[in-house]
Amino acid sequence: MSPTDARDPRDPAAGAEAPADRRISRKTVLKAAVLAGATPLLLGGGAALARDLGPGGGPLDLTPECDDGDHPTIEQTEGPYFKPNSPLRTSLVTAGTPGTPLTVSGYVFGRACLPIAGALLDFWQADVNGTYDNVGFTFRGHQFTNAQGAFSLTTIVPGLYPGRTRHIHVKVQAPGRPILTTQLYFPGEPRNSSDTIYDPALLMTVQQVGSGKLGSFDFVLDVPQTPSPSGSPSATPTITPTSASPRPTQSPTSQPSGTWRAGTTYAAGDRVTYGGVTYRCLQGHTAMTGWEPPNVPALWQRA
Ligand SMILES: [Fe+2]
Repeated sequence: MSPTDARDPRDPAAGAEAPADRRISRKTVLKAAVLAGATPLLLGGGAALARDLGPGGGPLDLTPECDDGDHPTIEQTEGPYFKPNSPLRTSLVTAGTPGTPLTVSGYVFGRACLPIAGALLDFWQADVNGTYDNVGFTFRGHQFTNAQGAFSLTTIVPGLYPGRTRHIHVKVQAPGRPILTTQLYFPGEPRNSSDTIYDPALLMTVQQVGSGKLGSFDFVLDVPQTPSPSGSPSATPTITPTSASPRPTQSPTSQPSGTWRAGTTYAAGDRVTYGGVTYRCLQGHTAMTGWEPPNVPALWQRA
């Protein structure tokens, strides 16, 4: 972690309570439809979420914001403990896993504030003792946002290790777009004020729920979108294609065996050809249009 990664350490946790008159945006309503039971716990406190509007309905000052032209979620250092090939799973714990239960949920949005379905999120974190599993895949897992652009991770509150405040690492990628590597933070942590990497823009909203915690965070990716004319929360986002996103010239059904095909389930280590080039699968997934090997370096590496 170089000094260039350092950011002004500020901890706004004590003063980051949401305004009492915070308006409920259409995205909060959308959230309510997905997490009906937990929704009351998610409203009215903690750090800003991308789906919320600021006082008076205007945009919030802190990243992530979510209206046209605003800043996407900031990047942070990957750190030394990332491993590819994490398992596909939304829960990183079993019944006997020690630690304070934590569920982190939220949405992945593009620049037009529309949710992104099928976005890949790859999480990794320390265990309750502040140790990373660099041999196996404990507290490592990837998942994809659902049709509403939502994700949910079941885990524990990560332990502390020397030199850092409490955090969770994540890589987020919309289909066919670059990877965002960043970290999520917990409000009210004493070390937030001394960790040079910590950034308050990446604070989760965290609520105590029984003996566990419920965290929320929305990612805003630098993905151009065409806003829905109707503004309907159920509108399907349109990701603007880029010139760096080649498409197959053949129908998938006409491609020979061994050629990348949408709809195929691939495992880590599988090899495919695409556009005459051979690629090796880095982590298991079900392929979909837009995730052709050149587009998704998190999933495919040139062999
Ligand atoms: Fe870390």
